[in-house]
Amino acid sequence: MTSTPVSAVILAAGKGTRMKSALPKVLHAVGGRPMVLHVLDAVARIGAARSVVVIGPDMEGDVAPAVAPALTAIQHAQAGTADAVKAARDEMAGVSGTVLILYGDTPLITPATLSAMVAAREAGGHAVVVLGFRPEDPGPYGRLVTEDGGLSQIIEAKDASPTQLEIGLCNSGVMAVDGAILFDLLDRVGNDNAKGEYYLTDIVGLARQSQRSCGIVEADADELMGVNDRADLAVAESVFQSRRRAAAMAAGVTLRDPSSVYFSWDTELGSDVTVEPHVVFGPGVSVADGAEIRAYSHLEGAEVGVGAQVGPFARLRPGAKLGAKSRVGNFVEVKNAILGEGAKANHLTYLGDAEIGAGANIGAGTITCNYDGFLKSKTIIGKGAFIGSNSALVAPVRIGAGAIVGAGSTITRDVAEDALGVERSEQVEVPRAAARFREKKAAEKAKQKKQE
Ligand code: UD1
Ligand code: MG
Repeated sequence: MTSTPVSAVILAAGKGTRMKSALPKVLHAVGGRPMVLHVLDAVARIGAARSVVVIGPDMEGDVAPAVAPALTAIQHAQAGTADAVKAARDEMAGVSGTVLILYGDTPLITPATLSAMVAAREAGGHAVVVLGFRPEDPGPYGRLVTEDGGLSQIIEAKDASPTQLEIGLCNSGVMAVDGAILFDLLDRVGNDNAKGEYYLTDIVGLARQSQRSCGIVEADADELMGVNDRADLAVAESVFQSRRRAAAMAAGVTLRDPSSVYFSWDTELGSDVTVEPHVVFGPGVSVADGAEIRAYSHLEGAEVGVGAQVGPFARLRPGAKLGAKSRVGNFVEVKNAILGEGAKANHLTYLGDAEIGAGANIGAGTITCNYDGFLKSKTIIGKGAFIGSNSALVAPVRIGAGAIVGAGSTITRDVAEDALGVERSEQVEVPRAAARFREKKAAEKAKQKKQE
């Protein structure tokens, strides 16, 4: 946390044409969450009181609701990065302390880097602190020109001299600016440059002209990568995944083959959780201490209890809540269903819209028939009940505690506590019928062969 207030302006008005998408670029997801929300989260984590996202006029219907409660400001024509920040003038009225300026398509920036920038600005009394980095190929980036250890100017690649182009330290675009003078500086930015745009980067030179100093904080290039197309999006995703895998292991999770496990931004794993290879965590999953997620399982919107076992090849969908020490085995799908402590569904089963009591045993091939084509209905299974294999439980239906459902039953009526519910036709036995059948068929086949 810093000592003066922090607020943020996040630029997101760019159309992102290279994404070739109907979805605005900043809403494309990394780790299951829109990129711009990663940026807002980083800013919130360092205690920013106010965040304004600058959007294009056509983004009111999608980007604005996605970033709420953050405010949005509209930049009507894309006249450059300085013009974009100016669009947030009303929403930033009365701002003091430090204003962070970030890009909505740079999702990997960390709170630690942002607080280092704010701290550097405050400690040095700087007008502007710019986040610099050294990309492998500085190509199109603005170059940071230094003088006496301070930052004197940012020169855009298109406006740079050959000597300036040799500078390896580049502008990431992220800045921490003294809120008291930000809009004064922006009002003085002109557009007499190679692109004919209002460059935000010009505020560095302008601040220096007003006898204010500027500084640089450097960060890793990984953190600052901007996403411009789908290939960049995949790179950002892989950086995000590597970070999450490392964080999980550091927090006491065993990953047998880290590179094959995929997390969402909000995946929560307790300590001594083991995750086998090829597991995907969609959004909204929490796994409690000591649970085991076996290979090839897919989980989303699910809670896995202490010491529970999931998979291999299990699918947990939203609303799946597995109690402590419960088990969901291979080819079992669970949706909007609660399994009590120690309940087991080990094979080939669908449990949807159900409540399953502690210690109940759900046999192989059990289906809760929860949907009649119009409405969903609930199946309630009492604790300690035993559902025989290949049973269809037609909801709404209740199986009492301790009851047994005979294998192969289609259960349409409630079964009372400790009762046996069975729904099958009487078994018929015809002595020697199988043998007679075989003899008859063998004779027919022999006759046919002779005629050929
Ligand atoms: C900018 C910097 C450059 C830096 C680079 C880092 C300026 C003048 N240049 O260049 O020094 O090295 O970023 O990636 O700032 N945007 C708007 N409205 C606009 C223009 C841009 O919202 O009118 C947004 C874009 O959506 C994008 C961001 O601002 O997220 C950066 O814009 P972009 O045009 O990519 O700037 P660069 O030319 O890459
Ligand atoms: Mg760019």
